[in-house]
Amino acid sequence: MKKIDQPVIVKIAKIIDESPVYKTFVFDYPLNARPGQYVMLWLPKVDAKPFSIAWQTSDQFGLAAIKIGPYTEKLFACQKGDLLGILGPYGTSYNFSGDLPAGLSADEAGEAGKKILIIGGGSGVASVTFLAQKAREENIKVDFVLAAKAKDQLIYEDWLKKLGINVYHRFQEGGAEHAWDIFKNLAEKNNYDGLYGCGPELLLKKLVDFSLAKNIFCQVSLERYMKCGIGVCGSCCMDPLGICLCEQGPVVNNHLANQLTEFGKYHRDGAGQKVYFNQ
Ligand SMILES: Cc1cc2nc3c(=O)[nH]c(=O)nc-3n(C[C@H](O)[C@H](O)[C@H](O)COP(=O)(O)OP(=O)(O)OC[C@H]3O[C@@H](n4cnc5c(N)ncnc54)[C@H](O)[C@@H]3O)c2cc1C
Ligand code: FES
Repeated sequence: MKKIDQPVIVKIAKIIDESPVYKTFVFDYPLNARPGQYVMLWLPKVDAKPFSIAWQTSDQFGLAAIKIGPYTEKLFACQKGDLLGILGPYGTSYNFSGDLPAGLSADEAGEAGKKILIIGGGSGVASVTFLAQKAREENIKVDFVLAAKAKDQLIYEDWLKKLGINVYHRFQEGGAEHAWDIFKNLAEKNNYDGLYGCGPELLLKKLVDFSLAKNIFCQVSLERYMKCGIGVCGSCCMDPLGICLCEQGPVVNNHLANQLTEFGKYHRDGAGQKVYFNQ
């Protein structure tokens, strides 16, 4: 029988306004998560919902949330010092799988070792900012495309730049290209060891198709409705394989994503009804 975890009660140490709709909630707790993993964040008397870990230090971690509906409205009303519950960290994580020069670790190989290209958009940015942080800790060169509908929805740009990451977005001077076109141009011009993404699913579908066509290592983080986070309720199962994304995801590689026929087509709401993505 599956063990139901008990939440760890943590105090909100700090709340950072990132944009009109985005806040980072900082907790003093050594979560020890891997990039790409998520927690179920329990708001007492409200609900528990999945949130990617946006960044982590040895004794703190941050969650970046977009205000989008009833739960996140309540979350945004929370104050520094309020007590919330954390379940997890759960799920699969990103890894760096390109070949390194013979005999060198990623760290020893440094800038000459690997370089990766990341795209993050919407509520998916948080999943890949932690990946970018981890990559820089391993001296991997990172190019990062931030996808946002409006300039004031770009988050973590300065933080990424401070980590030594090249950040691209459509709001740069003279730029009006779609984020996907910026990403594709970079991927075609540079010899990246890995392509990574989290964000709108139709964008991730383009990324997976591109990486398969070019035979480049690729991982994406997907979102499905998650109620338990531990493979019990079945709300996050994906057709036709029936994998529970809460345990066998959220990070999947391009080959697995390609076997999921619902990927890029539809997801299911909290009642299990199919909701088709707008093509
Ligand atoms: C693995 C994973 C990581 C996530 N990481 C982040 C993050 O870092 N930052 C962030 O802002 N959001 C993240 N989300 C989405 C976040 O869980 C939802 O935005 C939140 O639950 C919305 O709740 P609501 O009541 O405010 O909105 P609602 O009006 O209930 O829903 C708004 C949208 O959120 C989706 N959603 C609602 N409940 C869930 C749920 N239990 N599981 C999955 N999706 C749900 C709905 O399908 C809908 O598309 C993540 C989701 C998943 C699955
Ligand atoms: S969220 Fe319950 S099985 Fe995945």
